[in-house]
Parts: sequence; C-alpha cells; structure tokens
Amino acid sequence: MSAAPRFSLQNINKRFGEVNANSNVNLDIYPNEVIALLGENGAGKSTLMKLLYGFYTPDAGEIVVEGEPLVAHSPKQSLRLGIGMLFQQFNLVPALSVLENLLLAFPAAPWWQWRRRRLTTDVLACLQRIAPDIDPQRLVRDLSVGEQQVVELAKIMALNAQLVILDEPTAVLTPQEVERLYQFVAQCRADGKVVVFITHKLADVRACATRIVVMRQGRIVGDWRTETVTDNELIQAMVGKDTGLIVNRIAPPKHLLPKLMVKRLNVSSRVGTITAMDFEVSPGEVLGIAGVMGNGQRALAMVLAGILVPDSGEVILDGVSINALAHETIKVPDNVAYIPESPLTNAVVAQLDLATNLQLRALDALPFLQWGMPALHEAQHKLAAHDVRPSDPHLSAGALSGGNLQKLVIARELSRPVQLVIACYPTMGLDLIATRNVYERLFAQAEQGACIIWFSEELDDLLRYAHRIMVLHGGRVQSIGPVASFDRQRIGRLMTGHAQAC
Ligand SMILES: Nc1ncnc2c1ncn2[C@@H]1O[C@H](COP(=O)(O)OP(=O)(O)O)[C@@H](O)[C@H]1O
Ligand SMILES: [Mg+2]
Repeated sequence: MSAAPRFSLQNINKRFGEVNANSNVNLDIYPNEVIALLGENGAGKSTLMKLLYGFYTPDAGEIVVEGEPLVAHSPKQSLRLGIGMLFQQFNLVPALSVLENLLLAFPAAPWWQWRRRRLTTDVLACLQRIAPDIDPQRLVRDLSVGEQQVVELAKIMALNAQLVILDEPTAVLTPQEVERLYQFVAQCRADGKVVVFITHKLADVRACATRIVVMRQGRIVGDWRTETVTDNELIQAMVGKDTGLIVNRIAPPKHLLPKLMVKRLNVSSRVGTITAMDFEVSPGEVLGIAGVMGNGQRALAMVLAGILVPDSGEVILDGVSINALAHETIKVPDNVAYIPESPLTNAVVAQLDLATNLQLRALDALPFLQWGMPALHEAQHKLAAHDVRPSDPHLSAGALSGGNLQKLVIARELSRPVQLVIACYPTMGLDLIATRNVYERLFAQAEQGACIIWFSEELDDLLRYAHRIMVLHGGRVQSIGPVASFDRQRIGRLMTGHAQAC
C-alpha cells in the first residue's frame, strides 16, 4: 500500500475481567478499502471496532486518525472525525417516526430547530438514496428489522461518515435485503468512503471485501487481499485448525410412509396464526422451514410440541394424536425433542442451576434424579460433551451467554433418542464449530429414524442439509417440495409472499 493509512490501530490491548478481548492488535486502514473483519464468536471483532469508534477505551495502545493520535476518544469525537458505526443492537426510538429518528442523530441541532429546512432535506435525501420505498413518516416500531437497519444506515450517511463500520449487518436480513446492503457497501466505496464489515459469513466477504482480516482469540491471525485467499484458508484461520467443518447431508428417508402427519391445522393465537396447514414427514426426513420470523413459525412449533392446542385440525405422530394429549396436560411428549426460539425465556429456568435445567424434561422423576453424585456426574459429562462454557453444573442458567444457553438446551433435548425433533433456529448465535456439532446431533436423530422439523434463517444451510423445504408466509404453506426445486432467490421471493415464484 503506497498511501498513508487513514485510520491506524496500534498495539491495542483490551481486557474484560479475565478475558483478553484484544491482544496487541495492529491494523492500518487505507483509503478506499472495504475490509471484512472475519472471526468466530468472541474473537474480539466488535470490541476492536468499538475501540476505534470510541465506545471503549483501550487499556494500552494508540488510535491514530489521519496521522494524529487520539486523546480522550469518544463516540462524540467519532462524529467529528467521520467515524460511523452500525451496532448489532440498533439505537432507534420506536415511538418516533423515521424522520424524527434521523434528526435525533444531530446533537448540534436542538429540537426546536428540527424544522430547519436544510437539515430535513439532507436527511431525507440520504434516506431516499438508500431506500426510496421507506416513508419517512412511518413509526420506527412499525418497521421490519431490515427496514430499521436501513434507517440506521441513512443516519450514518446523513452524518457524512468517512469510515463506516458495520457490525454483523447481514445476520438479520432476508436475501433481498442482503443484496441491498451489498449495494450500499459498493456505493460507499464509490463515494470514496472506507468500510469495515464485521461478519462470520464467507458469502459477505466474497460479495463486498477488497481485503480480509481474520481475528481469533483477540488477535489478528490473517490479512489478505480478497482475491488471494481461498475459503478453506479463511475457515482454518478462523477456527485455528483444520476441523473438517463440512457436515454431510444424510441420505434421504427410505420409508416413505409418513410418521408425522399434520392435517388441516388452524390456529389463531397470541403467538401467531396458522391457516389450513397440511403436510407429512417420513421417518428420517429433515424438513427445513424457511420464512421471515413471525409468519406462523412459533405457533406451528408449539402445536407440534404439544404445548399449544390448535383451533382445529390434528397432529399425529406414530399414530398418536399430539393435540389430544395437549388437551389433558400441557407438556412436551417424552418422544419429542423441543428446541424453542429464545432459549432464555422459552427453554430454561434462569434461576435454576445447569444440572437442574438439564433434568427439566424428567420433572416427575426429579426428586430421585437429584440425589447425589450420579446426576451431577451426568450433568458434568453432558456440559463437557456439548462444550457449554462455563461448564459448572452449579452455575445458574441465567449466567450463560446466548450461544452457551443454546448448547445447554441441545444437550438436554438431543442426548436421548426421540421420534420427532422440533428445532427452532438451533444454531442462532453459535460459531462454526458449535454449529457443526449441533447439525451432527440433529441429523444423527434423523439417521435413527426421527422426523426433523428444522426452522432456520440460514438459507444456505437449509439448502445444503434439508431433504425438503417448506416456506411459510402469513401462517400458510407458501410452497413445499424437494430441496432441489429451491434456490436462495426463489425462497426469498416466497418468504416475502410472492406466491408463484419460479
Ligand atoms: N462488555 C463486555 N464485558 C465483558 N466481556 C466482554 C464485553 N464485551 C466483550 N466481552 C468479551 O470479550 C470477548 C470478545 O468479544 P467480542 O469483541 O464481542 O467478540 P466478537 O464480536 O468477535 O464476537 C468475548 O469473550 C466476550 O465475551
Ligand atoms: Mg460481535
């Protein structure tokens, strides 16, 4: 690189308690770069960029902007320096309109001057440029997650950021929205801005980046021009060794007699709506379910799990009606594994310890199971086998991070053979290695003859591993068929309600 770096992180160290989130990190960012900052969960990516943004202060090291070392760096100073950051958690006020949220970003403009014509015209022009379809008068609380992200991006543009940091921006988007984000990044580059794009998806990297920097355990472990590195090299740098991350798709089911039958299901409930739903699943079959969240997934999962009674229709597993059981006791049947979404609220008792949470499905037998060492031993074994960190069985479940909670629930649900697995976003928040472990356990159940109902937003994984795919929209089956009849674009169109997409 011939030009001088515009932004430079020098010997950065940052600790949180025992954790070295960043150790001796050096990173120079040059004009006109789109850097993909790649790494597994906990690698230190967000911390590094929050230091550059001034959200945290480094324990040691220096941040240099256009040759000037920064003193007392802060987000306010970032505003002046032209550093903008899209956080994983958005900073929008739900009760205000899109326009009001955009104007709020200008701390120099007191509210009584909001009507200043020029500012308003400027922010509206930014919004128009990125997303002409969003009405600036709409309330933020009525926007989808993807639309909210666009408002955040418009804010960053309105503030005229020269360095745009995006923290895992594609984690929450539909395929069409992902395309729009890629265009946004290309536009930033064309406008002479620098972009740092945090992600752990290789597709993002290939679509956008001119340079790839990989972090692992708080350090930078690789730095390449995009065209000079292979996906395998990137994966190895991310995980530290060649772990053979690819799981094979298991053979399609041999017995085509249905094991699970869902007949004329109708649900209208607080958790969602299902209209006239019919489908069947064979033993050993993996049925992947795609859809924008909130299109009936939750209601379907709960009815299948026997904890929500449908208004009409039936779910039959191995000849037994699950919802007839549900009328009597609201309890997941013993031959069903249920991995619900948001494990903290739906799958564990936060105040109870890990050992007890692992036994929740055997509640009736609990007093016996709780007796002494054997149960504790078993808990320790399961925690270690599923790499739950920390693995102390006495710790309360509420103390675990999201990814580790997910592993805890999977340890409980998939450690014994079952006939039906309902897995809702089972790899959400997990990194590559943990994701592989979950898929192996999930598909091992199918190989033993269980039906797998797998809700996911990871379309590439659905296409890679499912035998059939069902797309939900508005509580109805928009399409169901063999995986070979789908691709990302088609699923994306179906998810957004285009009925006869082909
Ligand atoms: N505010 C914080 N308090 C305590 N620990 C933190 C905090 N932020 C991050 N960490 C820890 O620092 C490490 C790096 O985290 P992070 O930068 O968020 O990683 P990434 O963005 O690559 O997933 C992790 O072990 C994380 O648990
Ligand atoms: Mg992060």
